[in-house]
Amino acid sequence: MDRRQKPIAVFDSGAGGISVLRELVRLMPNESYIYFGDSLNAPYGTRPTDEVRQMTIDNISKLVDMGIKEAVIACNTATSAAVRPLRAMYPDMPVIGLEPAVKPAAEFAAGGRVLVMATALTLREEKLRALTAKYADKVQILLLPCPELVEFAENGITEGDELDSYLSEITSPYIGGIDAVVLGCTHFPLVKAAIKKAVGDVPLFDGGEGAARQAMHRLEKYGLLTDAEEGSISFLSSLKGKEELYRKLFYSEPG
Ligand code: DGL
Repeated sequence: MDRRQKPIAVFDSGAGGISVLRELVRLMPNESYIYFGDSLNAPYGTRPTDEVRQMTIDNISKLVDMGIKEAVIACNTATSAAVRPLRAMYPDMPVIGLEPAVKPAAEFAAGGRVLVMATALTLREEKLRALTAKYADKVQILLLPCPELVEFAENGITEGDELDSYLSEITSPYIGGIDAVVLGCTHFPLVKAAIKKAVGDVPLFDGGEGAARQAMHRLEKYGLLTDAEEGSISFLSSLKGKEELYRKLFYSEPG
């Protein structure tokens, strides 16, 4: 098979990567995608880094065996744990990772405060520490781990009283004192409307669009963009029945 016509794999611990898949399809509608969520093992963000690294490597390796031309790790947590070894394992294939959108948030909020919402693993790992250090002279960065928020999105709960009161409880110490919010977990754009309600008139930044642009540029560089006239998406999950949720989230209106 012509390598250009092979699918792009989009991987997440569960449903979160759907927010990245939306951006990819918006930019490259004629590509074929395999979306795989490891919902059986989600959440990843509360696990030890070594465990997440191994699970991510195993899952991406299975996707590579299916015959893909690019792997998008549509998960900040899995990227923090495993993007380096995966790039070393697959030097001939573009491996795209997700990075919390600290740069645009810091540029927007220069002189002020940025709240980074993410998983505990993302917040303690090197990738975020390096980003925080890079922008330390520009903004004050506050870190907020939100494991329950992953669970809401993972279970398809994108609105409602329970979600609203959880969000208002965790964000209340920051209200009035922040100038930008980074959604540093791909599950969070799925509940963007509820987050907006909680934080009010503060802009939200996420890394989905940037990662999609990078995925396209890398394919261009490798000469791997498809010339097909129509795209396709296969939704796969390690947890039987979750494919339906992924499909539903993908085709629903983002908040
Ligand atoms: N979607 C993942 C991320 O972007 C995390 C969710 C999880 O904890 O499994 O960080």
